[in-house]
Amino acid sequence: MPDVTQILQLIEDCDAQAAEKLLPLVYEELKKLAAVKMAAERDDHTLQATALVHEAYLRLVGASNGENWNSRGHFFAAAAEPMRRILVESARRKQRIAVSGAAGRKLFGSAAPFPYLEKTTMSQFADYAVASDDYDSTRVPIGVDAILRCFARTDVPPREQTVLEAGCGTGNYLQALRPQVGSLFGIDFSDGMLAQARAKLGEDVELTCGSILEMSYEDGKFDGITCNQVLHHLDEGPSPADDPAEWKASGSPNVTRFINEAYRVLKPGGAFVLNTTTHEQLLDGYWWADLIPTAMVRLSCRMPDLDPLTQILAAAGFEIELIEADLDGILQGASYLNPTGPLNEAWRAGDSTWSLATETELTAAGERVEGMNLDGTMEAWLEAREEKRRSLGQSTFICSRKV
Ligand SMILES: C[S@@+](CC[C@H](N)C(=O)[O-])C[C@H]1O[C@@H](n2cnc3c(N)ncnc32)[C@H](O)[C@@H]1O
Repeated sequence: MPDVTQILQLIEDCDAQAAEKLLPLVYEELKKLAAVKMAAERDDHTLQATALVHEAYLRLVGASNGENWNSRGHFFAAAAEPMRRILVESARRKQRIAVSGAAGRKLFGSAAPFPYLEKTTMSQFADYAVASDDYDSTRVPIGVDAILRCFARTDVPPREQTVLEAGCGTGNYLQALRPQVGSLFGIDFSDGMLAQARAKLGEDVELTCGSILEMSYEDGKFDGITCNQVLHHLDEGPSPADDPAEWKASGSPNVTRFINEAYRVLKPGGAFVLNTTTHEQLLDGYWWADLIPTAMVRLSCRMPDLDPLTQILAAAGFEIELIEADLDGILQGASYLNPTGPLNEAWRAGDSTWSLATETELTAAGERVEGMNLDGTMEAWLEAREEKRRSLGQSTFICSRKV
């Protein structure tokens, strides 16, 4: 494999593919540089190191033919400058938002850049600023029928209902619900995800950038609320540096806060459909979970299992009507059964669990996948894993009602 200096020379020689080869070689060092730069700046910026690396890299390599990078050292020195600029721009943007007093803003019809909001309620382990570009190639909205069935058990027909998706991401569920539901709203914290949703949905769905823990909607606004695969982002859990066995659980304060908030903005009699994954489904509903078992345990520490979750719902005032596992739907869609998927970073980015694996776990998983593909055992192993998924499903829909 050519080293960094050779690739820099290729970029200088205008080799179009050289820039692609460079990023994996310099990524870790750029991440360290980003961490240093972020530590030197104000400590309340909301950019994540990986997002900073990607944006700085694009600015650096995209805008230059590499004429000044005649060594590794020159390249990293040059990388420091766009990083500094991005941090300054981010801080200015944040200051502008603070001045205008925005605590969550409608994106409907707005061409202004999206705000960076408080990082205390932002999902800390998944970098959706980066994942948003590829998210739709690795995710499909499963269980839309279950959601609609729950909405239909209300006096108001779905076509006359006002419905919210909390944590709507790139808007896949909103798009699937649109033909059946009267009026749709979406709220999400990630500006990258919302930009995709906005491009997809146009202006007839009202999108808001903000936290689902504190929504700006008035009491009793919605006939129905759905929340799909978001709960694991709300509460803290062990990071890749932590041993999950040492983790001291402190309940699920933010999940509780969100459920109370959902209760507040729902009309009496309104339906609340939570799409989540049980701990059993986490371990055996995804074929690749067996490759990174410790990361899966870290993930399970971040979200309540079914029993505590139904208790939180009941304590908030919801009446549970139906709990159904979706045995057919596959969250990753057509890309799911790719037997070499775990070797590909974009494929792994489709599920945030992978970001909870340590480098050692990732290397071991990669070696196992490569080995099974080479010695011909992958097909049988995958089938055995799939059998478990077919009996458990990947996600569970809890239909509850505000009483
Ligand atoms: C796995 S994605 C699910 C997106 C969408 N519901 C779907 O199923 O396609 C999780 C989403 O939750 C959002 N999210 C995480 N924490 C949030 C919070 N506190 N407030 C609003 N959105 C949040 C993320 O930005 C991300 O778009």
